[in-house]
Amino acid sequence: MTEPRELVAAVHARLFRRQPDFIATAPGRVNLIGEHTDYNDGFVLPVAINYYTAVAISRRKDRQICANAMNENSQVILDIDAIMEFDSAHLWSNYLRGVVSELFACGYRLTGADITIFGNVPIGAGLSSSAALEIALIRALTQLSGEPIDGLTAARIGQAAENNFVGCKCGIMDQLIAAHGEANNALLIDCRSLEFRSVLLPKDVDLLVINSNVKRQLVDGEYNLRRQQCEEVARHFSVQALRDVNLDQLSAAAADLGDDDVRRARHVITENQRTLLMAQALPAGDMSQVSELMCASHESMRRDFEITVPAIDTLVEIVRSVIGDCGGVRMTGGGFGGCVIALIPRSQATEVTAEVVARYPSLTGLQPNVFRCSASSGAFVAQDD
Ligand code: GLA
Repeated sequence: MTEPRELVAAVHARLFRRQPDFIATAPGRVNLIGEHTDYNDGFVLPVAINYYTAVAISRRKDRQICANAMNENSQVILDIDAIMEFDSAHLWSNYLRGVVSELFACGYRLTGADITIFGNVPIGAGLSSSAALEIALIRALTQLSGEPIDGLTAARIGQAAENNFVGCKCGIMDQLIAAHGEANNALLIDCRSLEFRSVLLPKDVDLLVINSNVKRQLVDGEYNLRRQQCEEVARHFSVQALRDVNLDQLSAAAADLGDDDVRRARHVITENQRTLLMAQALPAGDMSQVSELMCASHESMRRDFEITVPAIDTLVEIVRSVIGDCGGVRMTGGGFGGCVIALIPRSQATEVTAEVVARYPSLTGLQPNVFRCSASSGAFVAQDD
């Protein structure tokens, strides 16, 4: 299969009759544990995956950006100096519009550009194809304009584009891992200080990402609602974020808070603890601890945070029935569908895949897609040659 970076280079040359000046790439991600903790100033443990978005870019003399999205078979032309407006006819272009407007707000002086985009991160599967697109665009636009950017700033701008322009109040996890992912490692990110460190993955373990193919609906609305509920509980305790609340304080205040709020907060508090433990269990190769933590995380998302759906729970049960405590499995990402992540001994990958393919369709009426992923490096920009 042709690599996205090669494909965009070839198509760019054909469309714009010139070679790209640069090609920027940024990966999708899968979160091993630490769900809905990022916007609560908590901890997350994502991995950049070997599926990515590539952006080919070349300079234009005028003040326009002409962008072609190959996945969507769609093209838009923007005036860099105009105030960006939401475009409901070309939804993908709002990531570009958001990124351009946030870069402008941060003082970056962009030059006109022709852009070709292609990615192989499954779209709408909870693998952060949008963060991959944002970060690849930010790296390409700033490089072309002679204003290269560091990973953390790129991540902040990508998140701002999503929060302020696209309308999803996401945290910073997806953009930060797209910018800073590292081969063979997960990244433990402290979403308060924004410090991060690599966490080595055990050698003979496979990352199996299984797309449930549940059609996700009203996802942003439910996501923003969860965030609002978490912020309300933090306000109740007069603290900056749920990071500052512990389980004893939560139980003591249970009578004053609604049942929903208590359960939402309990998920976040316990998930932070699990994430820190997972960052120790993985390099130690302690798979039974990994298994326990991922199982507890899934249960917490199912009962307390209420972001799983029956088909996802079924998928998790099928995988669990094969791997037992030799590996871990849980839903990953924002929720309401999307993917399951399984960390399993390599020797079990074929059996797990066969079992999922055999049982999932008859139990749910849906077809799964199984991806064997490897932990990969983050965004990269190269001069085209
Ligand atoms: C989405 C958001 C992230 C994070 C996860 C849930 O992927 O973009 O910021 O909140 O959901 O962990």
